[in-house]
Formats: sequence, structure tokens, C-alpha cells
Amino acid sequence: MCGIIGIKGNNATEKAFFGLKILEYRGYDSWGVAYPSNNGFSVTKKVGHISNSEPFSSGSNIAIGHTRWATHGNVSEKNAHPHLSMDGKIALVHNGIVENFAEIKKSLIEKGFIFKSDTDSEVIVNLIQEKMKSENSFEEAVRKSLLEIEGSFAIVAVHLGDDKLVCARNGSPLVLGFGDSYFVASDATAFIGETKKVYFLNDNEMVVISLEPKVFDISSGKEISFETKELTWNFEQAQKGQYPHFMLKEISEQSKTLNLAVEQPKEKLDELTSLLKSSEKIFLIGCGTSYHACIAGSYFFSNAGLHVETVLASEFQRVENFLNEKTLIVALSQSGETADLLCAIKSAKKKGAKIASIVNVMDSSLMRISDVSLLMNAGPEICVLSTKSYTSQLAILLLLAYSIAGKANEAKQLVKETASKIELLISSSESEMESLAEKLADKKNIFIIGRGEAFPAALESALKIKEVSYIHAEGFAGAELKHGTIALIEEGTPAIVLCTPETRAEVLSNAIEMKSRGALIIGVDSKEHSEFDFNIIVPNCGNADIISLAIPIQLLAYYLALKKGLDPDKPRNLAKSVTVK
Ligand code: AGP
Repeated sequence: MCGIIGIKGNNATEKAFFGLKILEYRGYDSWGVAYPSNNGFSVTKKVGHISNSEPFSSGSNIAIGHTRWATHGNVSEKNAHPHLSMDGKIALVHNGIVENFAEIKKSLIEKGFIFKSDTDSEVIVNLIQEKMKSENSFEEAVRKSLLEIEGSFAIVAVHLGDDKLVCARNGSPLVLGFGDSYFVASDATAFIGETKKVYFLNDNEMVVISLEPKVFDISSGKEISFETKELTWNFEQAQKGQYPHFMLKEISEQSKTLNLAVEQPKEKLDELTSLLKSSEKIFLIGCGTSYHACIAGSYFFSNAGLHVETVLASEFQRVENFLNEKTLIVALSQSGETADLLCAIKSAKKKGAKIASIVNVMDSSLMRISDVSLLMNAGPEICVLSTKSYTSQLAILLLLAYSIAGKANEAKQLVKETASKIELLISSSESEMESLAEKLADKKNIFIIGRGEAFPAALESALKIKEVSYIHAEGFAGAELKHGTIALIEEGTPAIVLCTPETRAEVLSNAIEMKSRGALIIGVDSKEHSEFDFNIIVPNCGNADIISLAIPIQLLAYYLALKKGLDPDKPRNLAKSVTVK
């Protein structure tokens, strides 16, 4: 969940600093930069956001950096990366989890190593120091150390006196950039302003960047050939531009990204449609917002006459015994790096299941292990909250559901019409949601209900509100209210009611059940209702109603965060890509 970077070339320290500021969305508990100087490594580490610090230069042509989301060891300077080996001659940054760190740490302590931090990552750098005794090069010491590591890693390491960067990946993402300097980072946003020529490392690959990068297979040590690619997006897309926050920018981009979502290569769309029609069992899996999109997708496919099951990726073991070569897994993920999801996919592949994915990051781990992948084309989503990627997922799922009935063009038209309607909705809702946020900012609980396709919309609405405003919000199926939760409704409890034409009558009665117990009813529908204390009007988008229902709540969540003085782009305790289980 961290952001790591390494630079080899001019102004390395400044570039590392700049890159970390961009990677901060991957984790922002603490940060650090290290570079080799005449009397050892110069290391700067701080708790807090790197965006609050000023860059510095060093004249060094090598620098490594890290922005952390804590896993092992609390948030502190000593646990911040980069970590130095005990002899101070090796510096390392790491993203991932060393599952066998305790036993390695114990054996190193028995050999006299003294550890300064509580992290699993410091085990790697000291293991490399130990291997330096027996190996004839720094890179071989790194490689032999990694062969003993169980778990996931993306590392960048430097050895004093060796004018080279050594980096490697297994389970956590790492990408090389080929500009006037060589870059290695968790994702390409860190250096896309410098170059779009990249190489995405595969699992079990190590790269030695000396005069030029050379790629090696970690297991065999053999050099392997590689081909670079050209990124399809640009630096500006990863910037806030005229917006105060990425969250507002990415909400505002949705009328554009929806149209891009349904521009899918025909051969890929046909391939996935055919798999959907021919597979005996179909499971839609994801985490968080992507899982909510899976639930929405199950309604779309049901309307198309296709039964699919949705499973939380982290609960996938429940269905593993029912998979075979006639099973299709459709995995949804913005980052394509979510560990819970990748773990589920790997076990599904072992059972012979076909893997399809809907993903936003090109060449992400998920994309590489899929038999067929549809890209969301939403451009980089920097805000920790998923907004545009969620509605892009919905659009692609709608396209697939229509494609099953041979009506892909109808879906594209529906999404196009929806995109133009929500453009107006976004601009007209901002001030309304800002004033509603004023009313709700001091509430302790908010309940959201919906029926049919508005049920996953209710789940997603609750997640948006919770993760950015820290107000407890619960989303649930409208009819479930009377089976328990209604006990929590009291005078003034805010309840958001999401309506679609198909479910309006029933969900209105659920609203009245709450209103009669004192709830403040905020209704979202294409027309007003006297039962609502606050009416939010959204355009009628037919089978794409769930997309329009998302917009006002995304804006409400955003303004709730602002009213509470919170950073909507970097909520506490979160990170953009959850690369640990
Ligand atoms: C959504 O707002 C959250 N940031 C989180 O639930 C996210 O959707 C989840 O971690 C899955 O991420 P992915 O789509 O990159 O797999």
C-alpha cells in the first residue's frame, strides 16, 4: 500500500521528492528519501504527508524514496523507510509484506544483527547485508535474499560504492521509466511528466540499473529480454488542474469517462460476451466499491436473463470448491493490484477457471493474469475514493449485459445519453449538496436505503460517506429496514432514500416507516415527493439510473469532508491501492 521510487540520473533527489508527492495517494503515514553521500547514506524521514515538506537537492545521481501506509510497526520516524542495513552500507525501500519476517529476524539477531525498527522491511535490508559476505555482487546478494522472502515485495535497494539501483517485484507493482534518468516506481504517475516509455516488471523479476537497465529472473538469475511500452495517458491527467481536490475533479470527469468506458475493442467485447454466454458458472468478484459494482452488475445480467453470483474477493474461499474449467470469474478492480482480489484470482486459476477483468490500470497485475481484460479508460484516479472508476465499471457492466442480447450499440447510446445528463447534474448539484452537507456534518449516523439496483447504490453511498467524512453510514436494502435496523431510527436521524421508477412505490413506504419514527428523509429521485424533507432530483436514465443516483451522494460525501475540515483526497488510515491482504 506504499509508494516507492528510485532514480538514477541527474537531480535524482529532487525527482525522488517530486515523485513521492505524486505517489502519496498510495499511503501517507510517513515518508523518507535517501541518497549516497561522501560519508554514507544521507537519510531524511518524517511522519506525516510529504506534501507538507519542501524538496531538497543533493547533487547525487542516485536517490530512493518511500511514502508509507503502516503495516508492521506503528507510524513513526524509526519505522519510516528507507531502511539502512546495520552496517549503514545498504539503503532499501519496500512495498509489501514479508510473511516470514519473524524467523528471518530471529536468525539475523542470532548472528549479531541489531534492528532499529519494528518493520518487516528492515529484515530484507539486513538479510542483504548478511548475503554480501558470500555473494560476489550486490545484485546477487539481493537476489539470494529475495529467494528467502515469503510474501509480497516491490523493493528498490542501493549499496554504497555501487553506482546502481537494484529493484525487484513479486506481488506488489513496480514500473521502470526510461527518460533522461532511469526511474522505478510503484506506478507511472510518479514520473510520467518525465517519460511515457515504461516497462512493467513481472512477478519474480529483478532489474539492475547501472549504465542501462538489465532484467533478471529472480529464481534462476538468468538475464531476460524485455520490451518497453508507451503509456496512453499524460501528466496533466494526473494533476488536479483547476480543481481544489482530485475528488472533485474525478467526480466532474464522469460525463467524459462514461463515454470512454464503453469504447471497448470489438474483439475483446465479443470474447467476453461469448464467455458470459457459454460459461456454466459466473462469479463477479471485487472489494469495496468494486464489489458494489459487482452487485449492480448482477442485476444488469439478471435483466439480461443471465444468473451470476457475486462474491467478496476476500471471502472467495467459500466458492473455491465449485470452480472448474467451465467457470468464468469476472474481476473488477480500479488499481488491478488489490491483494485480496489477486489472491482469489490465483486460486481460481488453479481450478481452471477462466479469468476476465474490468480494470483501470494498464498492465496491472490483474490485467496480466486475466484471459481477457477490458480497460475502464478512466485515466488515473488519484483520490483514494473511487468515483469515476465506479461509474465506469457500471457502464461496462451495462454494456456487457446488453451485449449478451446483441444490443451493445443500445447500451452505448444509453450511456452516452446518461453521460450528457449527469454533466448537467454535476454542475447543478454542487451547491445543493454543499448546503445539505452543512445540515448533516454533525450527524453521528446516516442511513441509506435502496431496492433493486438501488440496493448496491445504497451500499456504495454509505462507503463514500464513511471513508471521507468519518460519519458512520449504513447502506441496506429498503425492505431490510423493518428486520432490525429501524430500531436505530430516532428523531432527526438522517435517512437517504434512493429511488428508481421500478422500486419507487415500495421504497417510499420504507421512507414513511422511517419518517413516522422521526427520521429526516432525504430522497433521491427523478421527481419530488411530499414525504421527503429534502428532495434531490436526478435525471431519469432508464437502466442506467444507478449511475445518476451515484452523483449527488459523491458530491455530498465530498462536501461533508470539507465541512469537517478533512482532506477528501487522503482520508485517514486509507490508501488508494490495498496491496496487502
Ligand atoms: C473505494 O472508495 C475505496 N477506495 C476502496 O473500497 C476500493 O474500492 C477497494 O479497495 C478496491 O480497490 P480496487 O478497485 O483498486 O480493487
